[in-house]
Amino acid sequence: MKRKERLVSRPIAERVRNIRQSDIRRFSAICAAMNGVNLSQGVCDQPAPDAVKEAAKRAIDADHATYTNLRGIIELRRAIAAKMQDFNGIPCDPEKEICVTVGSAGAFACAVLSTLNPGDECVIFSPFYSYHVNLLRLFGVGIRYVDLVPPDWSYDPAQLEAALTDRTKMIVVCTPGNPTGKVYTEAELLAIADLAKRHNAWIVTDEIYEYITYGKPHVSVARFESARDRTITISGASKTYAVTGWRVGYAVGPESVIDRMAVVSDLLYICAPAPLQHGITAGMQLDEAYYRKMQADYLAKRELLVETLREIGFDPYVPDGSYYLLAAFEPDRWTDATAATEAILN
Ligand SMILES: Cc1ncc(COP(=O)(O)O)c(C=O)c1O
Repeated sequence: MKRKERLVSRPIAERVRNIRQSDIRRFSAICAAMNGVNLSQGVCDQPAPDAVKEAAKRAIDADHATYTNLRGIIELRRAIAAKMQDFNGIPCDPEKEICVTVGSAGAFACAVLSTLNPGDECVIFSPFYSYHVNLLRLFGVGIRYVDLVPPDWSYDPAQLEAALTDRTKMIVVCTPGNPTGKVYTEAELLAIADLAKRHNAWIVTDEIYEYITYGKPHVSVARFESARDRTITISGASKTYAVTGWRVGYAVGPESVIDRMAVVSDLLYICAPAPLQHGITAGMQLDEAYYRKMQADYLAKRELLVETLREIGFDPYVPDGSYYLLAAFEPDRWTDATAATEAILN
């Protein structure tokens, strides 16, 4: 009792009182305890490419062990600039318009801290990636949700328009999406860009799954002239090279905001791990065949999962991208997704 009282009396910041980890962690622990196959978390289950690992090892041996430039090593920024031009269709200056961050999660945190004040509002498409929402809440940003409706996870333009108020300062896009697997179309992105311009809002687009698509092309909103000067594109190495624990991501955007984000990133994290930045630089030199094989591997897994879920009585929404999949079940089978997960685990 005494110990409990002592703990209760210690101060805890208001901003973290209502934040809790998602059920994914709880379910992952239960799954591990029963030796199950854990499909609940976004973890790549394939090895990182040898070229990436070898370059990181060489960098360790060469003592690339000190803090890097606050925007990341220039070799990596040059590689990112080339990829942004070739793959995303976005020209950018590696000296001024790119910041290497501690994962794309670090890029999102720096983007929010550099653009929004407490009390500002942000539009989020739902179902959403919980880190986006929790981070915005942590920084006191109000959230307005716009529904993505299955089976194709389209949104109602009228609902989007109604979600924007005079306090809206940001629209967050996640394409390909977690957890829907939605790949936004050019028309959808142009409509978002148009609304963002009318409300003078930022677009932050999380494109961490950009290389994991199944036939539908990945489109970056910053490719459009109308969006470029208000868009922060975030991505990273985690999913593309199967190195989620390496913590190397980046943000690309207008010079003025990248400049602020670099300072924030320095304050929070100083830099992404130096030798691993060298490893990712090597990864970015891999040829087309690497990306094609990765897509084919994920496609085979998607087909297996869709088939298996259908066999056991679910109605999966087949994703166009990312490695997530949502599935429906009859309304009277379980009360909600949490109850369904518990029933399956038990
Ligand atoms: C949509 C999305 N963004 C960001 C991340 C985290 O990426 P990173 O490892 O680059 O921080 C994840 C990880 O699951 C994700 O699903």
